[in-house]
Amino acid sequence: MSKKMPKDFLWGGAIAAHQAEGAYKVDGRGLSIADVMTAGGNGIRRQITSGILDNAYYPNHEAIDFYHHYKEDIQLFKELGLKCFRTSISWSRIFPVGDEQEPNEKGLQFYDDLFDELLENGIEPVITLSHFEIPYGIYEKFGGFQNKKVIDLFVHFAKCVFERYKDKVTYWMTFNEINNQADGQDPLHVWTNSAMIIDEGQNKEELVFQAGINELIASAKAVCEGKKINPDFKIGCMMAYVPVYPYSCNPGDMMASVKANERRYFYSDIHVRGKIPTYATKYWEKKGLNIVVTEQELEVLRQGTVDYIGFSYYMSGAISTLKDIPGHETADIPGAKIVKNPYIESSDWDWPIDAVGLRYVLNTVYQRYDVPLFIVENGFGAYDKLTENGEIHDDYRINYLKSHIEQLEKAVIEDGVPVIGYTPWGVIDIVSFGSGEMEKRYGMIYVDKDNEGNGTLKRSKKKSFEWYQHVIATNGSDL
Ligand code: BG6
Repeated sequence: MSKKMPKDFLWGGAIAAHQAEGAYKVDGRGLSIADVMTAGGNGIRRQITSGILDNAYYPNHEAIDFYHHYKEDIQLFKELGLKCFRTSISWSRIFPVGDEQEPNEKGLQFYDDLFDELLENGIEPVITLSHFEIPYGIYEKFGGFQNKKVIDLFVHFAKCVFERYKDKVTYWMTFNEINNQADGQDPLHVWTNSAMIIDEGQNKEELVFQAGINELIASAKAVCEGKKINPDFKIGCMMAYVPVYPYSCNPGDMMASVKANERRYFYSDIHVRGKIPTYATKYWEKKGLNIVVTEQELEVLRQGTVDYIGFSYYMSGAISTLKDIPGHETADIPGAKIVKNPYIESSDWDWPIDAVGLRYVLNTVYQRYDVPLFIVENGFGAYDKLTENGEIHDDYRINYLKSHIEQLEKAVIEDGVPVIGYTPWGVIDIVSFGSGEMEKRYGMIYVDKDNEGNGTLKRSKKKSFEWYQHVIATNGSDL
């Protein structure tokens, strides 16, 4: 038995276009749905405005201006030793409104330059097609992914970039965290994957399932088209895996956990197995949900299965049916509550910290699907403090990453789970998606910018930079 990580393991780092690039109106880019999200705060929800308001602050408009700083940033990534770098393509840079026939050449050129720069520096690009930033025009004209016309708009976009970058990119993912709109009550989640605002009186559950199915069809069609363009492409899905543990061994808690996890698995079940699971069709029947899927679309789902599962892992959850355990109700599982797990700590944003949960996910997901896995997000959002010399001693981040990499290595070396790579989230500080803050930092590279948008955008290395550099240099054998 090998006691080492595979030689070709892809140690990397991840960001997303809208959280980093800025330059939101440059070179013909159209507005994306991320551009109308204001800054929130720790515990304060971001607002979605109707267009851009004069008196609101939109942190994604400038973000860390990766658009103009990527060369300098890639030099730091190279020094860090990254083997791969995950980012996304801003759809509205390529199709500014979303329904154009012809792409915006300047937008395409930007990603040519970015991918060339990565490749010249020995870093493999890992690309998400849609990471929470559908063109705003698709919301305005079509009402988002509830509308089946948007399937073809996505496929047109996917074909265009597959064709353009067919010799530069091998690893692709279709929709970022496609499932996160289903397992929470946060209206932002319906926004970011599906570009939908649910009006009072509309059946949210039905719309979310319909949009989800439409996205799964769009993904499957894109996979089929991608394989025609380059049969060597590896096209994956992207899931947010937040395993929901039973709070106790009470059979009611066990069953509630199965049901809660189904809500998440629904998406990867279709992506990987190519068919709609019976637990879903039974549930739609029971709730009287009318989800439209044609025979032809079912065939597309069968054909367009993914090569691997990319996923984010940040935390686990717990669920209970016991009356005396405090928690909050979960709409989809009557009689059960999402509760605090007393065995684990939480971050400043109240995100549970559970390193063993990563090994649990790797094992359970691999056992369920038998396809390679790729951890494309994992990380610790924290407040960083500069010392008088301008240094950041982020031992808390090192501890988080170290404990998770230990579990990843156990899954690979002891359990035999095939994992393609590991790209910690926000390898360089970027705008937080959930709260719109700059000061919820994940990076190993600090960016001088605060929550109000002040700062020089200067980049500097944190203590975790040197630590991760050593992890990569030793292929994970010395943490
Ligand atoms: C994932 C998203 O949900 O979590 C990222 O794919 C996001 O876009 C990340 O940034 C961390 O969440 P947050 O809210 O701390 O930025």
